[in-house]
Amino acid sequence: MRNFGILKDKNILVTGGAGFIGSNLVEKLLELEANVLCLDNFSTGRIDNLVNVNDNPKFSLLEGDIRDLETCQKACKNIDFVLHEAALGSVPRSINDPVTSNDVNVGGFLNMLVAARDNGVKRFVYAASSSTYGDSEELPKIEDRIGKPLSPYAITKYVNELYADVFKRTYNFDTIGLRYFNVFGRKQNPNGAYAAVIPKFVIQLMNHESPVINGDGEYSRDFTYIDNVILMNILALTSDNENSLNHVYNTAFGERTTLNHLMEYLKEYLSEFDPKIADIEVIYGENRKGDVPHSLASIDKAKKLLNYNPTYSMRAGLKEAVSWYWENLK
Ligand SMILES: NC(=O)c1ccc[n+]([C@@H]2O[C@H](COP(=O)([O-])OP(=O)(O)OC[C@H]3O[C@@H](n4cnc5c(N)ncnc54)[C@H](O)[C@@H]3O)[C@@H](O)[C@H]2O)c1
Repeated sequence: MRNFGILKDKNILVTGGAGFIGSNLVEKLLELEANVLCLDNFSTGRIDNLVNVNDNPKFSLLEGDIRDLETCQKACKNIDFVLHEAALGSVPRSINDPVTSNDVNVGGFLNMLVAARDNGVKRFVYAASSSTYGDSEELPKIEDRIGKPLSPYAITKYVNELYADVFKRTYNFDTIGLRYFNVFGRKQNPNGAYAAVIPKFVIQLMNHESPVINGDGEYSRDFTYIDNVILMNILALTSDNENSLNHVYNTAFGERTTLNHLMEYLKEYLSEFDPKIADIEVIYGENRKGDVPHSLASIDKAKKLLNYNPTYSMRAGLKEAVSWYWENLK
């Protein structure tokens, strides 16, 4: 078992720390007694996500934008490790406004790399994405076999990987990229046009509204519970295996679930709180542009090089997530 205690008193910057994944990482790092700085511009993140940590003396917040290099330089001062989560997520958002997604996800990423390099950051772990597999139909997805990107968002996330690779070659700067696969769990925002499918469906069902599934519901995803993602980030930060650095890793559970099955599980778990939910009808709509039909990760590389062993199956995570939404948002 890896010694996560080595993070105690380390200075760790979490960009996007007010967002879904970032705020969960902030909480975990504070549990491990690290000093944590969150850099966020609150464009999609929420101050509510930080209520549990605001009073912690080891936590500080810098409100600012990664599109500004000076802000990134300031944030990286005296920092040992960076977890870079700040980005504009969502494929449809990037289709509607590719310029802003590119500015934040590519320009902001490059600023963060430069600032981290200039300030002697020891390791830069960043949020990559399963969207990088693009039009490759191969299943399961293996890290070095990718297709062509299907959206502006996918391009931005792939460019991140290219920059990280070039920063190793040209400046000997160490990074690890984590290709997240459809992450879900506590604190994920259920509201707004670009909400992810699980929290959106949960809220609709809780409100007795019919959820709309895009397509026939047979598209599948490797839905990944937040605690598996936290584990991967901590493993990436603490890995003492030189061979594990400067790679990208699938960050997933390694099983796929169709949207129809997802809906069944959600209804089953939510009807334990409210039996009427079992009878809610689902509406089927059009397929969405830029969506890949199926997604399933091979997690062999992470198992081998990072000793990753995911603790939550999709169903176990979904049960936890549903309870959290019921307790916090009902
Ligand atoms: N959630 C998923 O399933 C998933 C899948 C693949 C990759 N990712 C990646 O993981 C990371 C975190 O995603 P999330 O789901 O927590 O999203 P999120 O929107 O909840 O969090 C992103 C955070 O970044 C902040 N941010 C955005 N633009 C910024 C800017 N210009 N300057 C400073 N802060 C800024 C937002 O305010 C927000 O707090 C992102 O990089 C995303 O692309 C997420």
